[in-house]
Amino acid sequence: MASSLVLSSSSSSSLLLLLLLCFLFFTTLPQVSATDHIVGANRGWNPGINYTLWANNHTFYVGDYISFRYQKNQYNVFLVNQTGYDNCTTEGAVGNWTSGKDFILFNKTMRYYFICGNGQCNNGMKVSVFVHPLPSPPPSSSEHHSTPKSAAPMILEYLGLKSLMLSFVFVLFGFVLV
Ligand SMILES: *[C@@H]1O[C@H](CO)[C@@H](O)[C@H](O)[C@H]1NC(C)=O
Ligand SMILES: *[C@@H]1O[C@H](CO)[C@@H](O)[C@H](O)[C@H]1NC(C)=O
Ligand SMILES: *[C@@H]1O[C@H](CO)[C@@H](O)[C@H](O)[C@H]1NC(C)=O
Ligand SMILES: *[C@@H]1O[C@H](CO)[C@@H](O)[C@H](O)[C@H]1NC(C)=O
Ligand SMILES: *[C@@H]1O[C@H](CO)[C@@H](O)[C@H](O)[C@H]1NC(C)=O
Ligand SMILES: *[C@@H]1O[C@H](CO)[C@@H](O)[C@H](O)[C@H]1NC(C)=O
Repeated sequence: MASSLVLSSSSSSSLLLLLLLCFLFFTTLPQVSATDHIVGANRGWNPGINYTLWANNHTFYVGDYISFRYQKNQYNVFLVNQTGYDNCTTEGAVGNWTSGKDFILFNKTMRYYFICGNGQCNNGMKVSVFVHPLPSPPPSSSEHHSTPKSAAPMILEYLGLKSLMLSFVFVLFGFVLV
């Protein structure tokens, strides 16, 4: 059906059809990138910040990264359990990072507890995040598969891309008509 349309139409409408196919291709591209959640955003990993507020503003999925940015040698990061988080103790810590730019992969669905191990935990340098499982993959790989990260930005991104492609198509169509 599509091929007969191309064959029987003028070159300008087959160009338009091609552009529309490109447009459909780009708008149905899957969104598969993992997110890097920078702790504290541009304020980084420092004392005196309420990281509960930061964490409440994010949704974390298995496969995402959390990253801590801080002055190397001044602070650090320990992965602890709930007792360690509540009491600000690194006893029995599961992991520690000291590079100043630490990327940690969430490879499990669970609640993660991170604290600073040099005393600043009591000044707010603690963060707890719940990591959600990835939604089950769709039955067919040809289907549109998007991860329901945060719905609003994704819809905005989708609409933005769509209107960009649409105006691209209309501009070219305008040129063809002139
Ligand atoms: C941080 O913010 C949360 C949520 O509003 C609040 O429950 C908590 O008491 C605050 N923590 C500190 C140390 O202020
Ligand atoms: C929450 O996220 C929004 C949008 O990214 C941002 O404008 C706002 O400052 C954030 N609030 C906090 C407390 O991080
Ligand atoms: C944690 O601190 C509380 C009091 O702040 C104490 O009662 C409890 O025994 C502590 N737990 C551990 C495992 O140290
Ligand atoms: C956390 O780890 C400490 C040290 O290994 C242990 O004593 C404590 O019971 C653990 N707390 C939880 C909630 O698992
Ligand atoms: C930090 O982790 C390393 C292994 O990565 C371990 O050898 C070291 O004892 C840990 N440090 C502390 C203070 O727990
Ligand atoms: C999961 O991540 C933790 C912390 O980064 C790491 O210690 C552990 O080896 C990882 N497990 C797997 C199966 O990759």
